[in-house]
Amino acid sequence: MSFPNYIALIPAAGVGARMGSEMPKQYALLAGKPMLQHVMETFAGASQIDHVYVVVSAADTYINDLPLQPRTTILRCGGASRQASVTNGLSAIQNDWDADDWVLVHDAARPGLTTELIDKLIAFVKDDPVGGLLAVPVVDTIKRSNGHGRSEATVSRELLWAAQTPQMFRHGRLLQALRAATDPDSITDEASAMEAQGDHPKLVEGSPRNFKVTLPEDRLLAELHLKGSL
Ligand code: CTP
Ligand code: MG
Repeated sequence: MSFPNYIALIPAAGVGARMGSEMPKQYALLAGKPMLQHVMETFAGASQIDHVYVVVSAADTYINDLPLQPRTTILRCGGASRQASVTNGLSAIQNDWDADDWVLVHDAARPGLTTELIDKLIAFVKDDPVGGLLAVPVVDTIKRSNGHGRSEATVSRELLWAAQTPQMFRHGRLLQALRAATDPDSITDEASAMEAQGDHPKLVEGSPRNFKVTLPEDRLLAELHLKGSL
């Protein structure tokens, strides 16, 4: 194996509360396959990725029904928050990899990811001292509410990007940053943990198709992308 290695870690231990269905959303069928299966197949087909880890909750009864993918291991160590699931997953594999190996953390809820986007992220970040993430420049006019349903100000979108995943950082530094996070509410992705350490992750332009499936109406759009209709 060449050094550094590239490892994918897919947090898939959420309940999908906003989706409002009985089954966690990562197992909802999209274009004939569970959302998580699309993501696992994409990573299994990404030639630069050395190994894939999927973090599910200990109580998960759905994961066993998914077909096994090459170079993929299921970790049953999901936590109460996304951050806890990622931290637990990184801790579980700590002895198997070098602290300087790259980890690409990707939401199970972003089935629109492609191998092209994975390759683009790796190409832009592999020589970076810190790491980086896929993100898209904000296109809407952004309003700040006064907290009572009224617009107080228009925020310039000039420097604003919407974060996506994968987010790619060195294993050791990322685990250290996640463990050091004192305000878990402000750590909603890996990049925010790195920022809290004073690092400035690189922004790499992703794609609208890599959006996070969150609400019931998102499923239709995700299916159109997965079927190649868009
Ligand atoms: N996730 C996780 N462990 C948690 C919470 C979330 O691994 N305790 C994962 C989800 O499975 C998902 C990703 O983190 O792949 C992004 O989270 P989100 O879209 O918020 O999913 P849920 O938390 O499941 O949805 P909701 O917030 O609506 O409950
Ligand atoms: Mg959530």
